[in-house]
Amino acid sequence: MNVHHSFGRLAVAAGLTAWVVAVAAQQPPRQPPQQPPAGQQPASQPGNQTPRQSGNQTPGQPSNQTGPPAAPAPPAPKPAIPAAASSIAQRPDDFYGQNVSVYATVERQLTPTAFSIDQDPKGTGKEVIVLARRLHEKVEPSAYITVIGEVVRAEAAEIAKVSKDVASSLPPEVLAEHAGKPFIVATAVVTTALDDIAKFIPPPMTPEEEVLDKAMKSVGPANGALRKGVDAANAELVKTNTAILAKAFAETEAFWKSRNNAEAVKIAQTARSAVDTLAKAAAMGNWNEAKAQNTTLNQQCASCHKSFRERLEDGSFAVRRDGTR
Ligand code: HEC
Repeated sequence: MNVHHSFGRLAVAAGLTAWVVAVAAQQPPRQPPQQPPAGQQPASQPGNQTPRQSGNQTPGQPSNQTGPPAAPAPPAPKPAIPAAASSIAQRPDDFYGQNVSVYATVERQLTPTAFSIDQDPKGTGKEVIVLARRLHEKVEPSAYITVIGEVVRAEAAEIAKVSKDVASSLPPEVLAEHAGKPFIVATAVVTTALDDIAKFIPPPMTPEEEVLDKAMKSVGPANGALRKGVDAANAELVKTNTAILAKAFAETEAFWKSRNNAEAVKIAQTARSAVDTLAKAAAMGNWNEAKAQNTTLNQQCASCHKSFRERLEDGSFAVRRDGTR
């Protein structure tokens, strides 16, 4: 379920911006606007660029094609606009609400997850404050760094709109000290060694969760194929996929039993019995009954996901952590 980005240390400057944009988007780069030419510092270019004000909300991508409509996908990240720290500092109004990619120097660390950046290593006195959800390492004063994230006003409520976690980890006195300055709520903080030190690392799965994850990864495609089989009255397709689903829901039930979650156990049992009844109906050529059971089955997917599944920051799925363990 992890999304791993592998990259070579040989990446050249031109590739860096594309790569960091890809990291921020957690998917292949989608043609960032105004890609700077090779060898040119991203920061030195788009100082006079006026970012788009709206219309940049891309619709969420479908979570999985074969599954039922369940948890809505998180909104796809807005494309990051390369911007200079000095431009943001001087004309913050042009940037509020924009997702930017900024190449600048670290001024100083303010909290374990906040630091200031400046266009110039010598300091121009015009800083931008960066807030990260996490920082796996400290940032080094005067080191070059690429920050990707949304520019927000120095107001707790505005910061909370982008990330409640970030807002709650920001001490009020740090906010007050930098009142009026533009803030960036970062999704990526990339060092010159190409490490994203703000990268989300999914919590490790327990062995039981691994089993459930594997079961669900088989349930997705099997359920899609089953639906096709039922629609086309294809008994063979139904037989193959109900067998996969029956096994997966037996594992699902065992998982929730181990968690003492009676409600989820019941949903898994209902799903399993819908699968069994569907298989029998299809074998007898009773396709109306098969369709009805297919509907019942898909209601179980949606119902369990709604209560017991969550989508992590990187878009992957996990067992909901709150209240289920
Ligand atoms: C009783 C609970 C339950 C039922 C029923 C259930 N699921 Fe899931 N499903 C989960 C949980 C919890 C996760 C997150 C765990 C994970 O993916 O590691 C999940 C994850 C998934 C995923 C994402 C897998 C991944 O990690 O990429 C898919 C796809 C999926 N379910 C499809 C289905 C479909 C289709 C059905 C119905 C035919 C279904 N599920 C029924 C609990 C359930």
